[in-house]
Amino acid sequence: MSKLILFGGKGGVGKTTTSAAVAMWTASQGFNTLVVSSDPAHSLGDSFGRQLGHAPTLIEGVANLWAVEMDPRQTMAELAPKLTEALANPLKTLGVEEELEMSGDDMMVPGLDEALAFDFLLRYVESQEYDIIIFDTAPTGHTLRFLSLPGLTDRWISRMMRFRDQLTRLKSLFSKKKDSTMEVLEQFKRRVEHIRRFLANEQFTSFYIVLIPELLAVEESRRARAILGSYGIPVKGAVVNNIVPENDACSLCRSRHEIQSRYLAAIRENFAGLQLAEVPLFDREIQGIAALRLVADKIMGEGQLAIECRKSMEKEYDSAGGLFHVRLFYPETQKADLQLKIKGKVLSITLYGVTSLVEAPFPVDPKKVKAHFEDDHLHVTARQ
Ligand SMILES: Nc1ncnc2c1ncn2[C@@H]1O[C@H](COP(=O)(O)OP(=O)(O)OP(=O)(O)O)[C@@H](O)[C@H]1O
Ligand SMILES: [Mg+2]
Repeated sequence: MSKLILFGGKGGVGKTTTSAAVAMWTASQGFNTLVVSSDPAHSLGDSFGRQLGHAPTLIEGVANLWAVEMDPRQTMAELAPKLTEALANPLKTLGVEEELEMSGDDMMVPGLDEALAFDFLLRYVESQEYDIIIFDTAPTGHTLRFLSLPGLTDRWISRMMRFRDQLTRLKSLFSKKKDSTMEVLEQFKRRVEHIRRFLANEQFTSFYIVLIPELLAVEESRRARAILGSYGIPVKGAVVNNIVPENDACSLCRSRHEIQSRYLAAIRENFAGLQLAEVPLFDREIQGIAALRLVADKIMGEGQLAIECRKSMEKEYDSAGGLFHVRLFYPETQKADLQLKIKGKVLSITLYGVTSLVEAPFPVDPKKVKAHFEDDHLHVTARQ
């Protein structure tokens, strides 16, 4: 799994800029980084000065960096047929060729589209393709609702399970065929529980609040911290953006600086003991790779944010011995829930219905594969 870093805050405070800049920094440290944005206004693409889409795009000119702008309608369109197939026509899966209309009420729980968008984000986190996933969140209120969704998804699954259960009992009179949909739902429920443990563990998930030192910001960030805390998501720190530099030659700068200083002092007190980055208001437009590098230097400079990176997958190949070793990061995972399959060169590892594919440099003999689970890592050694 990847490490997940989220930047949240009020509208226009610099979340997209911060996400893009920090992603450039983690990528520059040699870590495969994906920035995910849920903003339909495509501001992440504007920030990089690149056209992005619903699938990860490699940011040209920056090694190890990809970005994706999720399109909630497309996410829904991709997932809805599967859900409809599995749930809206349950009699068919029971072997009864009879259509059952399921009302919108049974399927739709408020926030289901956001749950699906969250699922979109987490599939990248769960795949072993990226070391770091940075999520440029929507303005605070919306984000918090988004983050409370594991609970909401849970209620939705329970409701679907009850519905399936009733049907299964009813239809067992007609058919003896095993119902696999219940298994799929059970597995999805376990996945949601796993994700919740992952989000609550600050070793893997970091939430940073982005704010500007002005009226209400201190109070709002305190409230956001409390709400996130109630969801079990710890706040790692804050990025204080748009700080007006001291400049005696400019009276506007001087008075703005004085006003901000008071709020800045309160923010420092509020975030004491946490990470805090202070970023100046630049006199140039912050758009494009070169400008984002300037911002990244400030956010990640000495005494500012300290982001720990880690590889989600490490491969070693000893060509002389014909030995391939891969180490995959699976935190908060029960060993019994991991399934390993080998076909030709490809190792496929499945956890709660999400499969990661790892290619070996040679076709692997399934009889010569050894796997063990240790310190949150799955180790697989394969021979030719
Ligand atoms: N430190 C800075 N100095 C100068 N301009 C900045 C700075 N930080 C951000 N900006 C500019 O401010 C604008 C808003 O920033 P950004 O889009 O990152 O905010 P946001 O929080 O993502 O907004 P939204 O809530 O609309 O998504 C952008 O035009 C960005 O280039
Ligand atoms: Mg934004």
